[in-house]
Amino acid sequence: MTDTLPPTRWALGGPRNTGYGERFADLIAQGEDVVGEGRLADAMAARGARILDAGSGMGRIGAYLQACGHQVTAAEPDPDLVAQSRRTFPDLPVVPLEILALTPAALADAGVATEYDLVVCVGNVLTFVAEDTEVAVLSRLGSLLAPGGRILAGFHLQDGPATARRYPPDEFAADVAAAGLRVEQRFGGYDLRPVDDRYAVWVLGRG
Ligand SMILES: C[S@@+](CC[C@H](N)C(=O)[O-])C[C@H]1O[C@@H](n2cnc3c(N)ncnc32)[C@H](O)[C@@H]1O
Repeated sequence: MTDTLPPTRWALGGPRNTGYGERFADLIAQGEDVVGEGRLADAMAARGARILDAGSGMGRIGAYLQACGHQVTAAEPDPDLVAQSRRTFPDLPVVPLEILALTPAALADAGVATEYDLVVCVGNVLTFVAEDTEVAVLSRLGSLLAPGGRILAGFHLQDGPATARRYPPDEFAADVAAAGLRVEQRFGGYDLRPVDDRYAVWVLGRG
Protein backbone atom coordinates (compact mmCIF):
# COMPACT_ATOMS: atom_id res chain seq x y z
CA MET A 1 0.00 0.00 0.00
CA THR A 2 2.80 2.42 0.93
CA ASP A 3 4.18 2.22 -2.62
CA THR A 4 0.99 3.71 -4.02
CA LEU A 5 0.94 6.68 -1.64
CA PRO A 6 2.15 10.08 -2.84
CA PRO A 7 5.61 11.13 -1.63
CA THR A 8 5.65 13.27 1.48
CA ARG A 9 7.14 16.75 1.37
CA TRP A 10 9.77 15.31 3.71
CA ALA A 11 10.74 12.66 1.15
CA LEU A 12 10.68 15.19 -1.69
CA GLY A 13 13.02 17.42 0.34
CA GLY A 14 15.61 14.63 0.18
CA PRO A 15 19.11 15.67 1.29
CA ARG A 16 17.82 19.08 2.37
CA ASN A 17 16.22 17.37 5.37
CA THR A 18 19.05 15.08 6.41
CA GLY A 19 20.40 17.52 9.01
CA TYR A 20 17.46 16.82 11.34
CA GLY A 21 18.63 13.41 12.57
CA GLU A 22 22.22 14.54 13.11
CA ARG A 23 21.12 17.72 14.86
CA PHE A 24 19.06 15.85 17.44
CA ALA A 25 21.76 13.24 17.93
CA ASP A 26 24.20 16.08 18.71
CA LEU A 27 21.77 17.85 21.05
CA ILE A 28 21.13 14.62 22.96
CA ALA A 29 24.89 13.94 23.18
CA GLN A 30 25.34 17.45 24.63
CA GLY A 31 22.64 16.82 27.24
CA GLU A 32 20.31 19.46 25.82
CA ASP A 33 16.59 19.45 26.56
CA VAL A 34 14.90 17.95 23.48
CA VAL A 35 11.69 16.59 25.02
CA GLY A 36 9.48 19.62 25.72
CA GLU A 37 6.77 18.16 23.48
CA GLY A 38 7.01 14.92 25.43
CA ARG A 39 6.51 16.61 28.80
CA LEU A 40 3.24 18.14 27.61
CA ALA A 41 2.13 14.82 26.08
CA ASP A 42 2.90 13.03 29.35
CA ALA A 43 0.82 15.58 31.29
CA MET A 44 -2.12 14.91 28.93
CA ALA A 45 -2.05 11.15 29.39
CA ALA A 46 -3.17 8.78 32.13
CA ARG A 47 -0.36 6.58 33.51
CA GLY A 48 0.47 3.71 31.20
CA ALA A 49 -1.47 5.22 28.29
CA ARG A 50 -1.40 3.93 24.73
CA ILE A 51 0.44 6.61 22.76
CA LEU A 52 1.15 6.77 19.03
CA ASP A 53 4.09 8.97 18.00
CA ALA A 54 3.04 9.61 14.40
CA GLY A 55 6.00 10.70 12.26
CA SER A 56 8.39 9.82 15.07
CA GLY A 57 11.60 10.74 13.24
CA MET A 58 14.72 9.70 15.18
CA GLY A 59 12.54 8.69 18.15
CA ARG A 60 13.30 11.38 20.74
CA ILE A 61 9.68 11.94 21.85
CA GLY A 62 8.46 8.35 21.65
CA ALA A 63 11.46 7.20 23.69
CA TYR A 64 10.82 9.86 26.33
CA LEU A 65 7.17 8.84 26.63
CA GLN A 66 8.15 5.19 26.85
CA ALA A 67 10.54 6.07 29.69
CA CYS A 68 7.58 7.74 31.42
CA GLY A 69 5.89 4.34 31.47
CA HIS A 70 3.53 4.66 28.52
CA GLN A 71 2.85 1.99 25.92
CA VAL A 72 4.30 3.77 22.89
CA THR A 73 4.18 2.95 19.22
CA ALA A 74 6.38 5.03 16.94
CA ALA A 75 5.52 5.25 13.24
CA GLU A 76 8.00 6.67 10.74
CA PRO A 77 8.30 6.21 6.95
CA ASP A 78 11.84 7.54 6.37
CA PRO A 79 14.10 4.43 6.38
CA ASP A 80 17.18 6.36 7.53
CA LEU A 81 15.29 7.77 10.51
CA VAL A 82 13.80 4.35 11.30
CA ALA A 83 17.36 2.98 11.40
CA GLN A 84 18.59 5.87 13.55
CA SER A 85 15.66 5.47 15.94
CA ARG A 86 16.26 1.72 16.30
CA ARG A 87 19.99 2.28 16.89
CA THR A 88 19.46 5.07 19.41
CA PHE A 89 16.39 3.72 21.21
CA PRO A 90 16.39 -0.06 20.64
CA ASP A 91 13.41 -0.66 22.96
CA LEU A 92 11.10 1.74 21.11
CA PRO A 93 8.93 -0.18 18.62
CA VAL A 94 8.93 1.61 15.27
CA VAL A 95 6.38 0.73 12.61
CA PRO A 96 8.05 1.75 9.32
CA LEU A 97 4.91 3.17 7.76
CA GLU A 98 3.52 6.56 6.99
CA ILE A 99 0.34 7.78 8.67
CA LEU A 100 -1.94 7.04 5.71
CA ALA A 101 -0.87 3.38 5.89
CA LEU A 102 -1.61 3.04 9.62
CA THR A 103 -4.73 0.93 9.32
CA PRO A 104 -5.85 -1.22 12.25
CA ALA A 105 -4.82 -4.26 10.19
CA ALA A 106 -1.32 -2.89 9.59
CA LEU A 107 -0.91 -2.04 13.27
CA ALA A 108 -2.18 -5.46 14.32
CA ASP A 109 0.26 -7.08 11.87
CA ALA A 110 3.06 -5.10 13.51
CA GLY A 111 1.97 -6.40 16.93
CA VAL A 112 1.13 -2.98 18.36
CA ALA A 113 -2.05 -1.34 19.67
CA THR A 114 -4.75 -0.55 17.13
CA GLU A 115 -6.26 2.36 19.07
CA TYR A 116 -4.64 5.08 21.15
CA ASP A 117 -5.41 7.34 24.11
CA LEU A 118 -3.10 9.98 22.72
CA VAL A 119 -1.61 10.58 19.29
CA VAL A 120 1.45 12.82 19.23
CA CYS A 121 2.20 14.42 15.87
CA VAL A 122 4.81 17.05 16.65
CA GLY A 123 7.89 18.59 15.11
CA ASN A 124 6.24 19.86 11.91
CA VAL A 125 5.03 16.43 10.74
CA LEU A 126 1.75 17.92 9.52
CA THR A 127 3.56 20.48 7.36
CA PHE A 128 5.61 17.68 5.76
CA VAL A 129 2.83 15.30 4.70
CA ALA A 130 2.22 14.81 0.97
CA GLU A 131 0.45 17.60 -0.86
CA ASP A 132 -3.34 17.41 -0.57
CA THR A 133 -3.28 14.58 1.96
CA GLU A 134 -3.73 16.76 5.05
CA VAL A 135 -7.40 15.93 5.61
CA ALA A 136 -6.83 12.24 4.96
CA VAL A 137 -3.89 12.21 7.38
CA LEU A 138 -5.90 13.94 10.10
CA SER A 139 -8.82 11.61 9.45
CA ARG A 140 -6.56 8.53 9.70
CA LEU A 141 -5.13 9.78 13.00
CA GLY A 142 -8.64 10.46 14.31
CA SER A 143 -9.75 6.96 13.36
CA LEU A 144 -7.05 5.53 15.63
CA LEU A 145 -8.27 7.35 18.75
CA ALA A 146 -9.79 5.37 21.59
CA PRO A 147 -12.96 6.87 23.09
CA GLY A 148 -11.95 10.18 24.71
CA GLY A 149 -8.58 10.08 22.94
CA ARG A 150 -6.83 13.23 21.79
CA ILE A 151 -4.23 14.37 19.28
CA LEU A 152 -1.36 16.70 20.19
CA ALA A 153 0.03 18.39 17.09
CA GLY A 154 2.45 21.24 16.53
CA PHE A 155 4.13 23.07 13.69
CA HIS A 156 5.80 26.34 12.76
CA LEU A 157 3.64 29.12 11.38
CA GLN A 158 6.72 31.18 10.48
CA ASP A 159 10.35 30.36 9.83
CA GLY A 160 9.65 26.64 9.53
CA PRO A 161 11.85 24.17 7.67
CA ALA A 162 12.55 25.14 4.06
CA THR A 163 10.97 22.03 2.53
CA ALA A 164 7.77 22.15 4.63
CA ARG A 165 4.58 23.90 3.60
CA ARG A 166 3.06 26.97 5.26
CA TYR A 167 -0.08 25.92 7.07
CA PRO A 168 -2.17 28.95 8.09
CA PRO A 169 -4.21 28.35 11.27
CA ASP A 170 -7.57 28.98 9.56
CA GLU A 171 -6.77 26.43 6.86
CA PHE A 172 -5.62 23.91 9.46
CA ALA A 173 -8.80 24.41 11.51
CA ALA A 174 -10.92 23.86 8.37
CA ASP A 175 -9.00 20.67 7.59
CA VAL A 176 -9.47 19.48 11.17
CA ALA A 177 -13.24 19.93 10.83
CA ALA A 178 -13.26 18.26 7.40
CA ALA A 179 -11.52 15.28 9.00
CA GLY A 180 -14.29 14.92 11.58
CA LEU A 181 -12.19 16.34 14.41
CA ARG A 182 -12.39 19.51 16.46
CA VAL A 183 -9.89 21.92 17.93
CA GLU A 184 -10.09 21.65 21.71
CA GLN A 185 -7.22 24.03 22.48
CA ARG A 186 -4.55 26.03 20.70
CA PHE A 187 -1.36 27.37 22.29
CA GLY A 188 1.77 29.17 21.13
CA GLY A 189 4.17 26.50 22.41
CA TYR A 190 4.51 23.27 24.35
CA ASP A 191 4.84 25.30 27.55
CA LEU A 192 1.23 26.41 26.91
CA ARG A 193 2.20 30.00 26.17
CA PRO A 194 -0.60 32.10 24.63
CA VAL A 195 -1.42 31.78 20.94
CA ASP A 196 1.06 33.59 18.73
CA ASP A 197 1.82 33.80 15.02
CA ARG A 198 5.15 31.96 15.13
CA TYR A 199 4.25 28.44 16.26
CA ALA A 200 1.00 26.55 16.84
CA VAL A 201 0.31 23.72 19.27
CA TRP A 202 -3.07 22.08 18.89
CA VAL A 203 -5.07 19.68 20.99
CA LEU A 204 -7.65 17.91 18.84
CA GLY A 205 -10.51 15.61 19.75
CA ARG A 206 -13.17 13.77 17.83
CA GLY A 207 -15.77 16.18 16.40
C1 LIG B 1 11.13 17.36 11.29
S1 LIG B 1 10.82 15.65 11.32
C2 LIG B 1 10.14 15.50 12.97
C3 LIG B 1 10.20 14.11 13.52
C4 LIG B 1 9.72 13.94 14.95
N1 LIG B 1 8.28 14.08 15.04
C5 LIG B 1 10.38 14.89 15.90
O1 LIG B 1 9.73 15.86 16.32
O2 LIG B 1 11.54 14.68 16.23
C6 LIG B 1 9.37 15.48 10.30
C7 LIG B 1 8.92 14.05 10.16
O3 LIG B 1 7.65 13.98 9.53
C8 LIG B 1 7.60 12.72 8.92
N2 LIG B 1 6.44 12.64 8.01
C9 LIG B 1 6.12 13.45 6.99
N3 LIG B 1 4.97 13.03 6.41
C10 LIG B 1 4.57 11.93 7.10
C11 LIG B 1 3.48 11.03 6.98
N4 LIG B 1 2.54 11.19 6.04
N5 LIG B 1 3.39 10.01 7.85
C12 LIG B 1 4.33 9.85 8.82
N6 LIG B 1 5.39 10.66 8.97
C13 LIG B 1 5.51 11.69 8.11
C14 LIG B 1 8.94 12.63 8.23
O4 LIG B 1 9.22 11.33 7.77
C15 LIG B 1 9.84 13.16 9.35
O5 LIG B 1 10.31 12.13 10.17
